[in-house]
Amino acid sequence: MENYLVNGKVKLSGNVKISGSKNAAVAILPAVVLTSETVALENLPDINDVRTMTKILETLGVSIRRRGRNTIELTPGNLAKIAPSYELVKKMRASYYFMGSLLARYGRAEVPIPGGCDLGPRPIDQHLKGFSALGAEINIEQGMIKLSANKLVGAHIYLDVVSIGATINLMLAASAAEGRTVLENVAKEPEIVDLANFLNAMGSSIKGAGTDVIRIDGIKKFSGVRHTVIPDRIEAGTFMLAAAATKGNVSVEDVIPKHLEAITAKLRETGVKVIVEPEKIKIEVVKPLLPSDLKTFPYPGFPTDLQPPGMVLLTAADGLSVVTENVFDGRYNQVDELKRMGARIKVEGRTALVEGGSSLQGAPINAPDLRSGAALIIAAMMADGESRVSGIEHIDRGYENFEQKLVGLGASIKRVNHINSGQMPGNPE
Ligand code: EPU
Repeated sequence: MENYLVNGKVKLSGNVKISGSKNAAVAILPAVVLTSETVALENLPDINDVRTMTKILETLGVSIRRRGRNTIELTPGNLAKIAPSYELVKKMRASYYFMGSLLARYGRAEVPIPGGCDLGPRPIDQHLKGFSALGAEINIEQGMIKLSANKLVGAHIYLDVVSIGATINLMLAASAAEGRTVLENVAKEPEIVDLANFLNAMGSSIKGAGTDVIRIDGIKKFSGVRHTVIPDRIEAGTFMLAAAATKGNVSVEDVIPKHLEAITAKLRETGVKVIVEPEKIKIEVVKPLLPSDLKTFPYPGFPTDLQPPGMVLLTAADGLSVVTENVFDGRYNQVDELKRMGARIKVEGRTALVEGGSSLQGAPINAPDLRSGAALIIAAMMADGESRVSGIEHIDRGYENFEQKLVGLGASIKRVNHINSGQMPGNPE
């Protein structure tokens, strides 16, 4: 069992390079099975979710060659299986994208109901409604979603809720459906656009990605392609917020600033100096932080994945800030741990009141999920004294070289082995 030992009261400073997008990579990897030809993917983040995804592809029969830390070549040929194993699927939610891609290629898929970060209820009704509209038959048996279709046929589908996962799954399935599919009220995130660019390079005809209506003319044959994954806007935002929360001076590099406008705007509201250049954003704290209200929304709003680190930033601003989580019910896993560090936060339903301004104290804390985990590391870097952070396997799922990048910015953070003696409050396994 590994933990992080973090010593606080550091101001981050220097440059950090941002890796490829986790959420784009985990959508593009399942899409590879649409072709039998070779696909080369560059700028893939070296994280556990990508390792799990490539393992699933291997077990389905895809041959994989690594061409460096962030580049792989994948050749699906004719797959050996259409049923990823529960042991792998349960490790990450995005494994359910194999529903869309296997259905498109083989007219059949058997995928266990997925796991993923515990962020409150995460239904998949919109995915299933869309598959059904495209002509798939759906049976749920013993925790397994079984999909089959003699033929997928294009349809007009209106999503009741804006869902990234449903948008991706339906883009994948509709890519191979006969005729035109129109998806309405879809997600507009940059990861959706990256997937559409990838599918179009394979021969698909997808128009409108990045707006709330996507039109897809299905095709029969997908070709091999070389594709570079976009930068991870959530990793970039995490470092921007970490720089501000530690009152530092950091240049966040290899980013697409357009994807980060909501974070840039929020930081400026809190009084942080933000300089935007073509592929980098410089963050500098030059005066006391101001409180600010933070509301999460689908893109281009402030991302829910950055609400936990955003809340940590607000604990350093003198005064009352109101956080409203609009995307997930009760995504406040970080709050109890932050309170143990001395933060003054009160949650009522989807709203959290953050009374900032008093300093945090180091404590043993547990990372309950990926983004809350990153937020708690930021809190530990701000706090007085040492924090021992458990649950760091969540962070390894989604941040490439997290501690090395932080150490490069001057943080005192060390990965250590820890045998749980059962004496550390806040470290339930
Ligand atoms: N929803 C439904 N029905 C559905 C699908 C979604 O009601 O069929 C609801 C959800 O319960 C939620 C809202 O719609 O309230 C949005 O969920 P969405 O489907 O957009 O989320 P997701 O696809 O499961 C992705 C990211 C998450 C990120 C959310 C929101 C990936 C692999 N995951 O999840 O990322 O928090 O969008 O932006 O892309 C992370 O990276 O740490 C992470 C959790």
